[in-house]
Amino acid sequence: MRTQVGIIGAGPAGLMLSHLLHLEGIESVVLETHTRRYVEERVRAGVLEQGTVDLLVESGVGARLKKQGLVHHGIELSFSGHRHRIDFQDLTPGRSVTVYAQQEVIKDLIQARLDAGGQIHFEVSDVSPHGLDTSTPSIRFRNNSGDMQELKCDFLAGCDGSHGISRASIPEDALRVFERAYPFAWLGILAEAPPVSDELIYTYHERGFALFSMRSPKITRLYLQCAPDEDIAQWPDARIWEELCTRQTTSDGWRPAEGPILQKGITGMRSFVVEPMQYGRLFLAGDAAHIVPPTGAKGMNLAIADVRVLARALAEFYASGRRELLNEYSATCLRRVWKVQRFSWWMTSMLHRFDSTDGFEHRRQLAELDYVTGSRAASTSLAENYVGLSMDS
Ligand code: APR
Ligand code: PHB
Repeated sequence: MRTQVGIIGAGPAGLMLSHLLHLEGIESVVLETHTRRYVEERVRAGVLEQGTVDLLVESGVGARLKKQGLVHHGIELSFSGHRHRIDFQDLTPGRSVTVYAQQEVIKDLIQARLDAGGQIHFEVSDVSPHGLDTSTPSIRFRNNSGDMQELKCDFLAGCDGSHGISRASIPEDALRVFERAYPFAWLGILAEAPPVSDELIYTYHERGFALFSMRSPKITRLYLQCAPDEDIAQWPDARIWEELCTRQTTSDGWRPAEGPILQKGITGMRSFVVEPMQYGRLFLAGDAAHIVPPTGAKGMNLAIADVRVLARALAEFYASGRRELLNEYSATCLRRVWKVQRFSWWMTSMLHRFDSTDGFEHRRQLAELDYVTGSRAASTSLAENYVGLSMDS
């Protein structure tokens, strides 16, 4: 088997890369360990930056997104019993975010690739990249019938998430790792209840952070800060609702509507960046190269921004033989990655309870929230990061 770009992983990074390359007339093959059904149903965040929406629409995979996505022109920050709106229309004119679940983006991309005759091999195993520092890299893998195959490529794209094989196949001394751990996690639920606010509400409470989000006019998505090693079995539905209501009810009586819980799970919190995002002919993109904590929902947006840069660099190479953009890939992506890393860390630090005995920290955080919601300069800074920095920054 031979292709131009061998892509490991069918998450947003791998699928979008394959789609963008196809539009440039470049062939690729995507290898994915899970089933199509698994990747299409995996519940992840669902907030798309303006630039992500624009790219999906411009590249022809935005039809369902435009119909079903919920456009949001602001968010609310809630603390000390009051909600404060950050108004994107006023602060970042013309820019907004769209709530549309990650697995819906995945479905749209898979459909588009298959309709265009693209190759996605699901349920592969024993994937191993070879010849990374040669001009003839390849990927060996076992296909879903159990046969070993070799895919010869010009370039490899490691889009296989935080636990994939791509990063692990780079010699350790060729990479530098930067990391932050957080002393908490999120317990998230999907509930069959109409969202009783049109916008997302990020709450700082002395018992910890809570988030009100949504997936559709009938489905609410809610999160609450919990211990990093929290046992989900200790959280029967009634306890989850009680804790959410304690943290989220505001003095005007607003609280989330309750309903049957359809799904619950724990999301870990980590900041992680690997530098450089390239080794020889292997390019890392998305979670394979960096993880952000979920406050601000930047993970998928960052993955899409990486592959936009990579697709352009590969297009330039195939059109003209020039390698400048490929050589700059890592540095170009990392400038954005670190800005988004900073924003996600900042939102996380402002909104979570780190140490419940630290009165100084509690008052400092309240002062920060008061400042962010009271100052136009500070609100604008939050808004422009939330709707997404320009794709070229
Ligand atoms: N071989 C092939 N595929 C693999 C392998 C492997 N060895 N290891 C992992 N994968 C697959 C996973 O099953 C997954 O479908 O790679 C895919 C990686 O997808 P994501 O984890 O979604 O990563 P990415 O495309 O970078 O998207 C980042 O996803 O984790 C969220 O919040 C994050 O929204 C962000 C986005
Ligand atoms: C979500 O809806 O899953 C979501 C929204 C905003 C975040 C994180 C997750 O910051």
